Amino acid sequence: MNYFGMIPELKIGHVVEVAGTTIKVELSGDVGELTKNYDGRVYSVGQIGSIVKVHFGRRLIFGFVTLLRMRSEEYIEQGKPIPVDADQRLMEIELFAEGVWNGTLGNLELTRGVTTYPLPLQSVHLLTKEETGLIFSAAEGNHKLGVFSPMVAFGSYVGAEGTTCHANLDKMLGLHCAVLGSTGSGKSGAVAALIHSMLEHKPTPDTNTSPRIVIIDPHGEYGSAFQEQAVIYKAYDPIGNDEGNPVTVALPYWLLSADEFRTLVIGKTESEATSQNNIIYKALTHARMVHAGIVAPAAARHGEAPVDVNDHEKPRVINGYSFEDVLQFDRDKPRPFCLDELYNHIFYVQASRVHPTGPAGLLQPITPSEFAKSFKSVLDKLAVLRLDPRIRFMMRNYRDSQISLTEILSQFVGQKTLPNGTSQDIRIIDISGLPNEVAGPLTSMVARLLFNYKVYQTQSERKKDPVVLVCEEAHRYVPNKGEAEYASAQNSIKRIAREGRKYGVSLMLVSQRPADIEGTVIAQCGTWVVLRLTNASDQQQVSKFLPDGLSGMTRILPNLVQQEAIFVGEGAAMPCRIKIRDLPLSKLPRSENVKFAEGWAGPRLTDAELGSVALRMSGPIEPMQRDPVAENALPF
Ligand SMILES: Nc1ncnc2c1ncn2[C@@H]1O[C@H](COP(=O)(O)OP(=O)(O)OP(=O)(O)O)[C@@H](O)[C@H]1O
Ligand SMILES: [Mg+2]
Repeated sequence: MNYFGMIPELKIGHVVEVAGTTIKVELSGDVGELTKNYDGRVYSVGQIGSIVKVHFGRRLIFGFVTLLRMRSEEYIEQGKPIPVDADQRLMEIELFAEGVWNGTLGNLELTRGVTTYPLPLQSVHLLTKEETGLIFSAAEGNHKLGVFSPMVAFGSYVGAEGTTCHANLDKMLGLHCAVLGSTGSGKSGAVAALIHSMLEHKPTPDTNTSPRIVIIDPHGEYGSAFQEQAVIYKAYDPIGNDEGNPVTVALPYWLLSADEFRTLVIGKTESEATSQNNIIYKALTHARMVHAGIVAPAAARHGEAPVDVNDHEKPRVINGYSFEDVLQFDRDKPRPFCLDELYNHIFYVQASRVHPTGPAGLLQPITPSEFAKSFKSVLDKLAVLRLDPRIRFMMRNYRDSQISLTEILSQFVGQKTLPNGTSQDIRIIDISGLPNEVAGPLTSMVARLLFNYKVYQTQSERKKDPVVLVCEEAHRYVPNKGEAEYASAQNSIKRIAREGRKYGVSLMLVSQRPADIEGTVIAQCGTWVVLRLTNASDQQQVSKFLPDGLSGMTRILPNLVQQEAIFVGEGAAMPCRIKIRDLPLSKLPRSENVKFAEGWAGPRLTDAELGSVALRMSGPIEPMQRDPVAENALPF
C-alpha cells in the first residue's frame, strides 16, 4: 500500500507565516464546513491536537494543530483595526517531526524535531487515518528482540482509531507520573486500565510480569477492579459496614524513628517540648536496647536499687556488652520494642529519684507536682494512643503481636499467591472512612517503609524489584499551600517525589485539582495523562508542563469526552490525544455513582434493615477489644 502521497482532496490551506517551529496556515476558501471527504470517510479540519503535513520534496514535515481562529481575532489580539477582508480562517501549527516514506519497505522513517522548515505558500494537507496511525507506530519504534519490551497497550490514538497507543513503562515510571482530570473524567478508570495493562503485559513472548504496585485508596474503589489479583488492607472498619474481606494492616509503632515516634506521642507544637522530647527519646532508646539484649529491663516498681545512686538512670548493661555499645546504639532503626518497657522506664526510672529521706539508696517516686510538670502528660498521651481502637494497627504492643519486619514488608512487596495459583500482585491500602489523623500516619508509614526498604537494597536487589506507589487525591498529601490534610504523610511523599527515582520507587499521582498540588512535586513528574479538565486554573497549571508550543493543546481539555486524555511526557512516544482502553465492569474501580432510578424502583429498607444501620450508627457492634496492659498503664 502506498501512503503519504499528495492527495488533492485533503489539501486544507497554505502556509502564510513561519516562526521557528510554529507556522500559521490560512485555510482555503473551499473548506466550507471544516470537513473534507476522502475515500468514503469524513475528516475534520482544524481539530486541536490533530496532525497535518507539509510536503517538501520527498520529505514530509508533520505538525500538531494548536489553534484555529478567524484572522479578525488575531487583529483584535494585536490591538489593530480589523480590515474588511479579514474573514479568513487561520490555523496555528506546531511542527514536531520529519519523515520519509519508504514505499519499497512500506515504512515511515520518522525523526523527532524539525530541520527543514516549510515556506510561505506551501500547501498543507490532512492525513488519512492510516497515515496518522503510521506516524504513531513509527514514533513508538520497533521492539527489539531479546530485550524486555516496556511498551504496554494503554488505549488508542484519537484521529487514528485502531492504532493502539502504548505507554513506555520504563520511562513513565522511571520518572514519576501524574493522572489528572476533573471529577468523573475517568482518572481512576485510567489508573485501572494502566495497571491492568501492566498485569497483562508480556515483556517477551514467553515471560509474564509481576508488577509491584501499592495503591493508597481513599474511596475504597480499587478492590473491585482487581479482585483476586489484589490484597486489600485496612486499618480498621470505622463504620462496621465492610462487605469485602479486607486484611488488617500491620504497621507497628516500632517502625518509626525516634523522632517520628516522639511526634506521634508529643505532637509538633507542644510547649516545654524539649524536656518532654527527651523523656521519650531516653525511654525509647532504653526499650529498644532491652529488646536487642544490650541492657536489662527497667524496674517495674518503686523501691529498687539503681546501678549508680548518683546517676539513677544509668542503664544496667548486660554481660558481654559495654557502655560503648550503649553509646553507639542507633535508636532510629526499625527494631521492635515493648511499650510496657517504655512506660516502665518513664514511670519507674525517669520519674524517680533516690529519695534523701526515704530508704537509703532506693528509687522513690518524685513529688506529685514534679510528676505533673513533665511526665504526666507524656504518659497520658501514650495511654490514650494505646487505647484508641482506630490506631490499633499501629499501637498494638509488640509483645502481643510479635510480627517481624520481614512479615511487615511482605504485606506490600512479598509474593502472595492464592491456592488457585493467582498471584496477588496489587496491594491496596483502603483508607476510606478513616479520619485524617489516622489516614495520615497510615499512608505516611507505608510511604516511609517502602522508601526505606528501597534505600537499604543493594543495586542488584533494586533492579529486580521496582515499586510503584499510587496516590489518589494527591492534593491531600502535597498541597501547594497550607498544611496537608494528611499532614504526617506530606514529608514521606515529598521525599519519594524528590529521591524515589534513584532507588526505584515511583509515584503515580492522581488528582482532580492539579492547581492545588505543590508545584515542585508535580514538576518531578515526567509523564502526564490529562483527562477532561474544566477549571481554568487547573488548565493553566497543565499548560506549564506541556512541551513548548503545545500549551495551546490545553484548549481541548474542557472538551475531552470521558476516557479521552492528552498523553504527554517521557512515557508517551509523542504528545497525543488518546482514548483510554475500555474496561469491563469487573475490571473498573467501583463507581460511587448511585443509580436513583434503579434504587427507587425497589421497596424501602425494612425496619430490621434500618435497625442494623442504627446499630452501626449508635455504637460498637462488638465489645471493643481492650488491651489490658494499656488500661493498667493509665497512671491515674
Ligand atoms: N477505562 C474505562 N473503561 C470503561 N469505563 C470507564 C473507564 N474509565 C472511566 N469509565 C467510566 O467513567 C466513570 C467515571 O470514571 P472514574 O471513576 O474513573 O472518574 P474519576 O475521574 O476517577 O472521578 P473522581 O474524581 O470522582 O474519582 C466510571 O464510573 C466508568 O463508568
Ligand atoms: Mg476516581
